[in-house]
Amino acid sequence: MSTKSLWGGRFKEPLSEAALKFSSSIDLDKRLYQEDIDGSIAHVEMLAACKIITAEDARRIRTGLRAVAKEIETGKLSLSWEKEDIHMAIEKRLIQKIGSVGGKLHTARSRNDQVALDERLYLRSAIKEIKKLITHFQRVTLYKAEKYFGVVVPGYTHLQRAQPIYLSHHLLAYVYMIDRDYERLNDCYKRVNKLPLGAAALAGTSFPIDRALVAKKLGFDGIVENSIDAVSDRDYLIEFTSVCSTMMMHLSRLAEELVLWSTREFSFASIDDAYTTGSSIMPQKKNPDMAELVRGKTGRVYGDLMNILTTMKALPLAYNRDMQEDKTPLFDAAETTRQCVFILTHVLIHTKFDRNRFEEELKNDTLTATEVADYLVQQDLPFREAHEITGKMVSYCVEHGKSLSQLSIRELHHFSHKFSEDVLELLDPHKSIEHKKSAGSTAPNEVKKQIVHWTRVLKQRK
Ligand code: ARG
Repeated sequence: MSTKSLWGGRFKEPLSEAALKFSSSIDLDKRLYQEDIDGSIAHVEMLAACKIITAEDARRIRTGLRAVAKEIETGKLSLSWEKEDIHMAIEKRLIQKIGSVGGKLHTARSRNDQVALDERLYLRSAIKEIKKLITHFQRVTLYKAEKYFGVVVPGYTHLQRAQPIYLSHHLLAYVYMIDRDYERLNDCYKRVNKLPLGAAALAGTSFPIDRALVAKKLGFDGIVENSIDAVSDRDYLIEFTSVCSTMMMHLSRLAEELVLWSTREFSFASIDDAYTTGSSIMPQKKNPDMAELVRGKTGRVYGDLMNILTTMKALPLAYNRDMQEDKTPLFDAAETTRQCVFILTHVLIHTKFDRNRFEEELKNDTLTATEVADYLVQQDLPFREAHEITGKMVSYCVEHGKSLSQLSIRELHHFSHKFSEDVLELLDPHKSIEHKKSAGSTAPNEVKKQIVHWTRVLKQRK
């Protein structure tokens, strides 16, 4: 089966079914139909404004395009592989519907600038949507930080207990991390939001088009100035998938902590039933699959980044059909990132942290060792000596199954005569936190400052 292509003029034979099947991209790029139609309407209005086509022709084309959009929406127009791609499918259907005047739509345009335009329009919405989801994630995390304010948890390095911290402080770290992704999206948006249309195939066009007018109609912040650059590059897409990758990396760390913290071994957190799954064989199981999938899908998004980088590597200018392959990573990265930030926000909403369990754990630990060392430094010991003495104390505690706070003053004096009663209060994890002084530390006031800051920032965000 072969149908005649809109570009079939110079060919004696139609494209073979095998070649068409192999090269068709409509299965993927049909998602761009709305963008394609919006772009075409702006283009055709400009053609009329510049008197390249008549106002009446432009009106008929616009009405026709809207009718095609309806047919796609309602599933009336089949978008199967023999249509080559979404651009061809729409144009062909337009001509079928309104007759040969539909053929004027493609004046002063090529699919090369058209597809770049569609992608940029798609990315603009994707960025806006992911930004909204980030804001929601931040609001939920902030809410949890406020709710658990005052709850002390072990902070980790090397996944070994390090120092006591506020759970709120830990949660807020994620608010900061993902906020940089938000900023990166804003920055990426600036470069996405330039109009490539009007570059035509690569060299521009001899029709007196007005690119600035199309840019204005479509809400672009100017045009991509060099016509070859406009159709050749996909760096905006690379940038976007790279931001998605960084963002997924952040989400995957939280996902991993939720997986870890909800194990029996940790038992720090529990995720509600609605966001966990059971095992088909082991009746007792409650698995954190959503968090695991976020962790897993992170790899996919990294793959998308490598995919597009590798596709673009060493391609000669300008457009090459290789670039059609960019749809897979584009849609996959945008959709996966969107889904992951959405679901992880919901997992977090439905996660409870166990205050009592944290307290219990803190009671039997040596997490305040750094405080002890700092105390000795304040008594004029060099830090290295203080470190050595405290290390010995910890080793003594481990041997005798005690926590630092269980040591009597007599035992303390066994290690150093610099200790007096006032050290005892430092051994309490809550007190140790209150003693922190540096900006950005886990001290109650510093954490409160962060909460106030984010409450204000997030209130202003749409
Ligand atoms: N489907 C193509 C793509 O996504 C559209 C551009 C085709 N251009 C061409 N000269 N064959 O890249």
